Amino acid sequence: MNNMIDPENKGVDGVTCTTDEDLAIKVRTLTKKYGKDVFALNGLNFSVQKGEIYGFLGPNGAGKSTAVKVMTTLSCPSQGEVQLYNVDAIHYPEEARKLFGYVAQQSAVDGESTGRENLMLQGRLYGLRGSILSERVVQLLERFDLMDAADRLSKTYSGGMQRKLDLAMGLIHHPKILFLDEPTTGLDPEARASLWDTIHHLSKEDGLTVLLTTHYLEEADQLCDRLAIIDKGKVIVQGTPEALKGEMHGDVVHIETMEAISEFQAKDMLQGISDLHEIIVDGLSVYVRTHQGAEQLPALMSILKAENIKVRAATISRPSLDDVYLRYTGHVFTETEEREVSR
Ligand SMILES: Nc1ncnc2c1ncn2[C@@H]1O[C@H](COP(=O)(O)OP(=O)(O)OP(=O)(O)O)[C@@H](O)[C@H]1O
Ligand SMILES: [Mg+2]
Repeated sequence: MNNMIDPENKGVDGVTCTTDEDLAIKVRTLTKKYGKDVFALNGLNFSVQKGEIYGFLGPNGAGKSTAVKVMTTLSCPSQGEVQLYNVDAIHYPEEARKLFGYVAQQSAVDGESTGRENLMLQGRLYGLRGSILSERVVQLLERFDLMDAADRLSKTYSGGMQRKLDLAMGLIHHPKILFLDEPTTGLDPEARASLWDTIHHLSKEDGLTVLLTTHYLEEADQLCDRLAIIDKGKVIVQGTPEALKGEMHGDVVHIETMEAISEFQAKDMLQGISDLHEIIVDGLSVYVRTHQGAEQLPALMSILKAENIKVRAATISRPSLDDVYLRYTGHVFTETEEREVSR
């Protein structure tokens, strides 16, 4: 795995190899237009290596689910290419469908059936029958710790158990790729951590390629080998979480002001201070990137005081994916996430 960061849509993938043989997913100039002027996807380019966990991180409406629906042949693109293990998924959807499992943003579990029945039905839909199917169901129930609850109606399962059943259903036909659309949204932290563990094992022990979408920066950071920040139907930047964070040297000083100031005003005020690499203003927050946050903070505060700008709080931290997101989109991610969770 290399550490390359790729400001996408320039034809580079940010992967160590470029032969199609090593790729599980290859997407080129994917566009999806709804009606006259909604470009849900607007020239999406990226590739995923075999066995990788690749994350799509983006706010509401970024195009994550649309991209997954097109890749899983549920929706036709307006333009572009999707190759799954060298199968052209747009022109040969039947063949492509054998290669992947798909766990949708909304659970596909039937609450009025037991866990075992849900799995049996899913298996039959993929043409599995007899002992091959029943043995596969037992294998998955054991694998996902659902054996004790196998014959209970799945509406009695916890959120985490239902999501695990969703995952097991997506794997019934031994796919090579698993698409997960927001696998952990709405789960409590413990269930989320347990699901991360499961997804990690599926990739690292079973060699499954995983493409997941997420609203959680922490999830992308902990789980993904590489990730793409998506906004307005395009990849804004992609790379390993380490590379994306590593690109941001030094400290981030976050100053919360009592009244909003413009970015122009902030840059104008602070231009005299040396070693400030970046100044971004988002609402009442001023973010300043510098090599030595602790050393620069007194100078920053005294300039703000001299300019009569009241400060509510100031913090210094190492760059996180939040800061990477802010840098490439110009706004913080957490507000979007909070809106989504409370939706
Ligand atoms: N069937 C549809 N008809 C019209 N517009 C649509 C349709 N599906 C999605 N869109 C629009 O396409 C854009 C991308 O939507 P999409 O569901 O892919 O976003 P998302 O990144 O998955 O968002 P979320 O994080 O909320 O799930 C949005 O502007 C959405 O309103
Ligand atoms: Mg979505």
